[in-house]
Amino acid sequence: MVAICPSILSADFARLADEVKDVEKGGADYIHLDLMDGHFVPNLTFGVPVISSLRKYTSTPFDAHLMVEHPETYIDGLKKAGVTYVTVHQEACIHLDRVIQQIHEAGMKAGAALNPATPVSSLECVAGMVDMILIMSVNPGFGGQKFIPYTLDKIRAARSLLTKSGNTTAVIEVDGGVNSKTVQAVREAGADFLVAGSAVFGAKDRTAAIAALR
Ligand code: DX5
Ligand code: ZN
Repeated sequence: MVAICPSILSADFARLADEVKDVEKGGADYIHLDLMDGHFVPNLTFGVPVISSLRKYTSTPFDAHLMVEHPETYIDGLKKAGVTYVTVHQEACIHLDRVIQQIHEAGMKAGAALNPATPVSSLECVAGMVDMILIMSVNPGFGGQKFIPYTLDKIRAARSLLTKSGNTTAVIEVDGGVNSKTVQAVREAGADFLVAGSAVFGAKDRTAAIAALR
C-alpha cells in the first residue's frame, strides 16, 4: 500500500483551499506542504498561518516538509495548525536528535529528509527514532524538476537501515520528479509515501493523476 501525497507547491496559490479540496476529492492520502524560507533553499513559499487557514477546508492529514533553517522554531506552530508529519532536513539540523524529540514531545510524527548528495548513513544514529525517512529525488526548492536516478539506491539503503535499526513502522517518502514515468521504479525500490507536485496539480484531471500513481 502506498500513500499519495500531492504537493501544493504546484497548486494555484491564489485558490489554495479549492485546490486542496480538489485533491482530497481525488483520493489524496496526505497533503504535502513545502515550507521554504529562501535560505535553506533558493525559494520562498508559505508558513504556519497559511497552513492553519487551510486546515479548516480539508480533513486530509497534513505532511509538512521543512526546507528552512532553524526548523525547531516552527514545531509549536505546526502542532497548533494540525499537522501530522513534520519532516526536517538532516542538513538543517545541528542537533537532529533533539529536534526529532521536540517533534515527538509536541505529539507529531517526525521525519528526517536527505538532499540527493547526503548519504543515508548520516541517519544511522537516529534511524530507530524516526517515523519517516524522506529521500529527496531532486535538489529541493522547486517543482517540476527531473528525477535523479541514483536516489533509487538511497531508497533501498534507507529500507535496509530501518530494518537494521529494528524500526518496522517508519515509512519511506520519495519527493521530486515522481510521475507516471518514474513511479514504477520508485515503488519497486520500496517507497511507501509518494510526493507528487506537478504530476498531480499540472494535470487537468487530478483524480486520474492520483489514480495513475497509485
Ligand atoms: C521540492 C519539493 C517537492 C515538490 C515536488 O523541493 O520538496 O515537494 O513539490 O514537485 P514535483 O513533484 O513537481 O517534482
Ligand atoms: Zn517536499
